[in-house]
Amino acid sequence: MDPSSRIEELRKQVRHYEERYYVHQDSTISDAEFDELLRELRNLERDHPDLVTADSPTQRVGGRATDGFASVQHAEPMLSLDNAYNEDDLRAFDERLRRGLGQVEGPVPYVAELKIDGLSIALQYRDGRLIRGATRGDGITGEDVTVNVGTIKDIPHTLKGGPKGTVEIRGEVYLPRQEFERTNQEREKAGLPMFANPRNAAAGAMRQIDPQQVKKRGLRAFLYQLVSADATPETHAELLRRLKQWTLPVEPHWKAITGIEAVAEYCREWGEKRAAATRVLPFDTDGVVIKLDAIELRSTLGTTSKFPRWAVAYKFPPEQSETTLIRIDINVGRTGAVTPFAVLEPVFIAGTTVSMATLHNANEVGRKDVRDGDRVSVEKAGDIIPQVVRVVDPNRAGRSPRWVMPTLCPRCQSELVRAEDEAVWRCENTSCPAKLQRGLEHFSSRHAMNIEGLGESLIARLIADGLIASYADIYTLTQERLEQVERMGKKSAANLVDQIARSKARDFWRLIYGLGIRHVGERGAQALAGAFGKMDALCAASKEQLQAVPDIGSVVAASVREYLDQPQNRALINELAAAGLKMDAPLTAAGSPGPLSGRTFVLTGTLPLLSREAATEAIQARGGKVTGSVSKKTSYVVAGADPGSKLVKAEALGIAVLDEAAFRQLVGL
Ligand code: IVH
Repeated sequence: MDPSSRIEELRKQVRHYEERYYVHQDSTISDAEFDELLRELRNLERDHPDLVTADSPTQRVGGRATDGFASVQHAEPMLSLDNAYNEDDLRAFDERLRRGLGQVEGPVPYVAELKIDGLSIALQYRDGRLIRGATRGDGITGEDVTVNVGTIKDIPHTLKGGPKGTVEIRGEVYLPRQEFERTNQEREKAGLPMFANPRNAAAGAMRQIDPQQVKKRGLRAFLYQLVSADATPETHAELLRRLKQWTLPVEPHWKAITGIEAVAEYCREWGEKRAAATRVLPFDTDGVVIKLDAIELRSTLGTTSKFPRWAVAYKFPPEQSETTLIRIDINVGRTGAVTPFAVLEPVFIAGTTVSMATLHNANEVGRKDVRDGDRVSVEKAGDIIPQVVRVVDPNRAGRSPRWVMPTLCPRCQSELVRAEDEAVWRCENTSCPAKLQRGLEHFSSRHAMNIEGLGESLIARLIADGLIASYADIYTLTQERLEQVERMGKKSAANLVDQIARSKARDFWRLIYGLGIRHVGERGAQALAGAFGKMDALCAASKEQLQAVPDIGSVVAASVREYLDQPQNRALINELAAAGLKMDAPLTAAGSPGPLSGRTFVLTGTLPLLSREAATEAIQARGGKVTGSVSKKTSYVVAGADPGSKLVKAEALGIAVLDEAAFRQLVGL
């Protein structure tokens, strides 16, 4: 695959998982897998700087802020930490740090702390009294959760002997394992989806609107950082002692350690203790955070747009467990991807019981030579998606025969097809019931048409009863028909009809997204809706015109064209239009949609040739917007001579900065 397609694919995956994590709070891959995707993307972008775009996930500080709470601007960005996965990574961190400090002689004094698997929190105290609590959000803007924070019993409302003036203290809110288990038991009884891990449960609890509910969840907290205050002591060790004196909770297993080798030893010890540590510690830890002890020197090192250079997070290797693989089964996804997975003898790994694990694709099964009945080693990479790592007893007598990928779709028996450059086999039957099921789930999902009540099991019943065979059939459902469906009362039928009717008014881009065109995520759908404005114009666009839209690369363009060239898809679009769904986008501020629709620009400094007016006109004529201040929503900052603070802010937010030449190229001047 060429680098540009791979970059596009990686961005799509990263955005998808970020959204699952930050918006739905039910991440479907492990941190390590997510980090690996991001690492590959970063490396590819480093090798191909011309392919870096402003909206790449590598250019942002963190995930996004969600709705529901007031937004707060953090005084200083809440950064994340760079990761170290082994001792060599730790040594490399130490090397970089020494270089940054001008090659200090002798071993560097560090403080190592356990990494608490929760969510970051920023507390403000004024004259020792708690005045605000905020979540991290996207690192720049968080949510004001003061009321909820006030219910956490560890967090004092008044500091003992605390500093005068306003200080910000940061740390982690977490859910003790016991509370996590209790919450999940309660949710199971109530028929609610269970949380995958204590971190997600803590995030869910923190975002409860009713503080009484938050209180019941039993959240706890540890604090570890004081943000730019006069009260900052010289060393981190001293700071932790001071926080404790102020009656703030500090995780007690921290250690002041001199030299990276001794730090590595501490990491090794905790890595080994960790399985037992789940019993020793009442909370989950996924690593060790190593910080330069000398606080004063930290500013010499500074930060990148995402990480401080004075700290690193060492991630423990994932816990593994052995179990028996009962059989290999296959799943058919929305795009027809047919993927093998392992059905396992239930086994306890890193906090939960696991009975299924991904096997990725047919090649993976072949490479690992996984067979029915094998003993296998399974890991969750510290987090969520269990995967089969290897066969424990490959030389065992009497093993089952090698597994072979079926040639037919398990649901509709059509022949499976595999593209030359892909590892994944697909069912290409457009009316395969398994694809229809997954496709309908996507179409009605919250981020697409948002038809509340039309979930997995009802969709299965509607398909089985022959009531829906395409997305358009949703709009033919009537209350009378729905009332005939098993387990469907009058009231739920009426609600569903109402939800379906409301979905017709959803934005045009959500419909594009909901169609489930391969490679078209939310951003792609927004870009297409913005650029073409109308479904007719989109349908008539050539591959080249599609590709000319910012955010749409060759793979996406080809996929959109392929989708629109299929007569049954065009028929579906016509039926949806006839049902009254929105087939056009609202006009942009400049009056018409264009290739820059949805893009926001900030101009700063003096450009060599273009006047500010001419630049503004060029942007607006193409559907873009010009605003006066830089925020996380800014797409590009165009900077000339003497740019001022807007440039500084753009850099802090990781927003792409263009000079005049780059700007001209982008807008085609
Ligand atoms: S220090 C400038 N110390 O891990 C960043 N972070 O993966 C300061 N975390 O965003 C962070 N335990 O939410 C620090 N002992 C600890 C931590 C810790 C957990 C979280 C924190 C951070 C994330 C990075």
